[in-house]
Amino acid sequence: MKILAIETSCDETGAAVVEKDEKGLIKVLSNVIATSSSLHAKTGGIIPESAAREQIKFMIPVIVAALIESKNKAKLSSGNKFKYAKHILTSIDAIAVTHGPGLIGSLLVGVETAKTLSFALNKPIIPVHHLLAHLYANFIGEISNFKFQISNIQFPFIGLIVSGGHTDLLYFKSHSNFKWLGGTRDDAAGEALDKIGRILGLPYPSGPEIEKRANKIQGSTLKFQSPLINSEDFDFSFSGLKTEVARFIQEERDRLSPEIGVTDLGNICYAVQEAIFDVLIKKTIRAAKLYKTWTILLGGGVSANQTLRKSFEQSIINNKLSMQIFSPEKKFATDNAAMIGAYALLNYKPVNWEKIKAQPDLYFD
Ligand code: KG4
Ligand code: ZN
Repeated sequence: MKILAIETSCDETGAAVVEKDEKGLIKVLSNVIATSSSLHAKTGGIIPESAAREQIKFMIPVIVAALIESKNKAKLSSGNKFKYAKHILTSIDAIAVTHGPGLIGSLLVGVETAKTLSFALNKPIIPVHHLLAHLYANFIGEISNFKFQISNIQFPFIGLIVSGGHTDLLYFKSHSNFKWLGGTRDDAAGEALDKIGRILGLPYPSGPEIEKRANKIQGSTLKFQSPLINSEDFDFSFSGLKTEVARFIQEERDRLSPEIGVTDLGNICYAVQEAIFDVLIKKTIRAAKLYKTWTILLGGGVSANQTLRKSFEQSIINNKLSMQIFSPEKKFATDNAAMIGAYALLNYKPVNWEKIKAQPDLYFD
């Protein structure tokens, strides 16, 4: 089965062709993303109206590129491209689209495009939960030595979603049977990194920038608090950290000014990551122990962070636990359409195109 997947929940415009073969292996045949992040870098954050306007421009070209690339024919002239893309569309079995959560204007671009394709081509359509799809990026088969390998993820597992807008912990018994354990009470992990980056004068999105600065040093003498680290629940809270960093910079203004030096910046970034990651790791491992699961899946933009992945592994070793941790390949960790296709293929539940609508506040039911 072959799916054309569409993702437009935030500022990215993504389309992918994803296939499940006879052995159940998820293969990404193409994965195209257009981003308006350089536009948002100028304003230090996303302006929803601008994001949606850009997505309207990108949507069809991105779909055409994904269809053509799925057949390794990226070099066709533009006239031939459209003709060939239409031809490939006929071989697609179904369409998958992110229907929430996300920005309403952005979601509408993807959802309405997918509905139109479904109606015009008479193809089934599968609405996909963006956050669950982040975890399903782990089910995408890896290419090694030109062969696809199946990922050996076992149920039950604990899923930690760490993105720009969400931080959630879930317990999965099977694909369709899961339970939400907890989440952030205020800012998401990625949002905290982006806001702190802004205070530090780093470009948007700041998660990868903070990672780069922190990697320049071996360890930090600084320590920021990890909020709720000792609470019995599975909740998180990251907005206080931003205030703590802002206060620290204010107090150290004379020493740090006029610009924060490389070592100071590295120290701050290192301590910020440590404060956020410590609580994420502690609560995720506690959930895995409580639910007697030996598998942990990470997903979302922040899971692209190598320090987070390594610290998880280190913590598992230090605590002598036999747990397995999965995190998506970097290109599938941040927003992309391939993960939407992977989710749809493993949770194939088509609905009538008239029933699908964009749901900005979609939660976990
Ligand atoms: O999942 P995602 O692409 O979009 C949402 O669904 O929100 O996540 C974006 C978030 C941003 O906050 C960005 O700063 C963060 O992921 N991010 C990272 C890294 N790459 C992206 N955070 C830490 N380290 C990274 N390498
Ligand atoms: Zn996302």
